[in-house]
Amino acid sequence: MTTAALEYTPEIARLTQPIYERLKSVIPEIEWPVHAPYVAAINELKRERNAVLLVHNYQTPEIFHGVADITGDSLALARRAAEVDADVIVLCGVHFMAETAKILNPDKTVLIPDLRAGCSLAESITGEDVRLLKQRYPGVPVVTYVNTSADVKAESDVCCTSSNAVKVVESLNTDRVIFLPDNYLGKYVAQQTDVEVILWHGTCEVHERFTGAELKGYRASHPDIHIIAHPECPPDVLDEADFVGSTSGMINHVGETRPAKVVMVTECSMSDNVAVEFPDVEFIRPCNLCPHMKRITLPRILDALRFNQYPVEVDPSIADQARRSVEAMLAIG
Ligand code: 13P
Ligand code: SF4
Repeated sequence: MTTAALEYTPEIARLTQPIYERLKSVIPEIEWPVHAPYVAAINELKRERNAVLLVHNYQTPEIFHGVADITGDSLALARRAAEVDADVIVLCGVHFMAETAKILNPDKTVLIPDLRAGCSLAESITGEDVRLLKQRYPGVPVVTYVNTSADVKAESDVCCTSSNAVKVVESLNTDRVIFLPDNYLGKYVAQQTDVEVILWHGTCEVHERFTGAELKGYRASHPDIHIIAHPECPPDVLDEADFVGSTSGMINHVGETRPAKVVMVTECSMSDNVAVEFPDVEFIRPCNLCPHMKRITLPRILDALRFNQYPVEVDPSIADQARRSVEAMLAIG
């Protein structure tokens, strides 16, 4: 179900003015009347429904700064989902993030505003693939990136995210791990540790498009540039980076180091969201868009709250198994 388009009234303009004041460097004035009625309606409805909006760092600025209750990377969203004291969680991100929130909150309503918000990494592997790998490498622990389905998590020993992958692998005190499914993140982890890493062939369709040559070009035209990259990027990109980290790691790094000029080698909305916080930093903005993250829009969030769509369900026996590997990760940090 969908709501008919909402109207921009003087009252809505007044109510949302403080929010727009923060966003005016990244959202043109002409666009605000389109967003503002939804920002106002969502903020009102989430109070009525005792709902919490968990918002990933790749969501657009009107969502990230306009309606979010909690923002963060995959690890922060999983952690905060485990602590939420609300009746409804609306996950503004992609499906595996909503599924993780549901696994941690089996008795709560978890909604994702668009069921098509998938992920190429999650698509790259099935639970059956993991069962076959375990037969091929008996006794070798399986470390699985959270960008996977509940089925895959259920077959794994422990999950990880881009912010704790090295720590999780090293915590196992073993000389070999199976690392699934992100080939590039796995290669990055292998570089940082002595543990042998058995890799899968998954890639992120957004980060795999960056190249080292492209970054060399930015360094040539901006000699003072600081390059920070997400570890889902290919190795030649990470070799060019001054800092590698999860989406929140990248944001914190900008906050702590305040480079004069920076390029964030990741999804497009990150630079917009961070630029709002740090107006003194100049962002050079090559970026690749994640079409899955962009399925989430203000009208779809409003419809999610209004019509309770779309509830995320996980088969309880799979959820119980998957919860073990997510909780094992949360216990490591
Ligand atoms: P983060 O955990 O770093 O937020 O990454 C999630 C993701 O999907 C990046 O593409
Ligand atoms: Fe998946 Fe890549 Fe999109 Fe992240 S950016 S959700 S890894 S497709």
